[in-house]
Amino acid sequence: MPIAPRRPATAAIHTRRAESAARPISSPIFQTSTFASASSEDFARVAVEVATPDFYTRHGNPNHVELAEAVATLEGAETGLVFASGLGALTTTVLALASGGDHVVAQRSMYGGALSLVQNLLPRFGVTCTLVDQADTSAWEDAITPATRLFLIESPSNPRLEITDLRAVADIARRREITTLADNTFATPINQRPLDHGIDLVWHSATKYLAGHSDASAGVVVGREDLIAKIWSTSINVGAVLGPFDAWLVMRGVRTLDLRVGRHNATADSVAEHLHTHPAVSAVHYPGLPDHASHHVAAAQMSGFGGVLSIELRGGIDAAVQTIERLELFHLSASLGSVESLAVHPPSMWKAVLSDEEVAEAGIQPGLVRLACGQEDVRDLIDDLDQALQGA
Ligand SMILES: Cc1ncc(COP(=O)(O)O)c(C=O)c1O
Repeated sequence: MPIAPRRPATAAIHTRRAESAARPISSPIFQTSTFASASSEDFARVAVEVATPDFYTRHGNPNHVELAEAVATLEGAETGLVFASGLGALTTTVLALASGGDHVVAQRSMYGGALSLVQNLLPRFGVTCTLVDQADTSAWEDAITPATRLFLIESPSNPRLEITDLRAVADIARRREITTLADNTFATPINQRPLDHGIDLVWHSATKYLAGHSDASAGVVVGREDLIAKIWSTSINVGAVLGPFDAWLVMRGVRTLDLRVGRHNATADSVAEHLHTHPAVSAVHYPGLPDHASHHVAAAQMSGFGGVLSIELRGGIDAAVQTIERLELFHLSASLGSVESLAVHPPSMWKAVLSDEEVAEAGIQPGLVRLACGQEDVRDLIDDLDQALQGA
């Protein structure tokens, strides 16, 4: 029986969707939470398909697929998944790959949010963790127990730019059937591709260099199809869903990643060189400097050294805080990887997620300042640092 003429409330919803024979160069934004199926059979099929772009946005969305595939291609991975933040990517991945009774080995020096996950949250679910000095390859091997399932790696690490020998640690893990998960946020796939060195999974805070403009929060994990399928099954429970518009914004950033990272590398390199001999600075942590403790490892696995460096001030915490406050071009802001230069005092920032003892254990000195170089003219950034360091 034909249905009755549509009433306004129905007609307003069931108008024709805009269609166009044009082929837009910029991807449309699929700002939709759900998708219509043509039949019950199709519905049943897409409901269980990994990261399908045409069922329900928590399961997948065309903007997600576009971004995940782009990052997977750059990292040399089979496939990937996107999340609402970097920590959404990490937490979902760890929950997918570790269960109560399992053990994880992680670096003592890594992003505070990741440290807090393994030290404070996972133990509540029966997953224990041993922290190791990342530069000591044998420490990774010594920490393994029969219950070890995961190695969590971050190189260069936040905020001290320490380096992990990716190949050596991946080889140890592979011999013991342990999955390796590397945070490649600082390096980006332009400077380093951990999968080429034997790592199983790479994750990113896409909030940083991939997005590149401080306007979106996002996370990505890429790797083998079987591992990604497992993570996807957990991700539909965890629900750290990336908004389609944010996926689109990150994708726009990815298109200029190579160009931006080249500039970030060159700028940080010049700033590191400059500060290296500055009288107010007792140490510069940047893997591109020949006197960095793991420079040779970094040079073997990276093609550029990234846009972040950290410095230690002779004047300790007071000098660090005052210098940051005097900076005019570097914003005092908790992020990195953007077009704007940003500076933070990690000992203060880390306290949001770690205790004083945990901050000290991560090797974070009171006089440490992290500098994330942006896209400004390097001469202006050096002038800004010089004026801010005066009297420090
Ligand atoms: C190295 C690194 N990894 C991961 C994260 C977490 O990313 P998000 O803030 O997108 O959750 C951060 C955040 O600062 C980071 O610096």
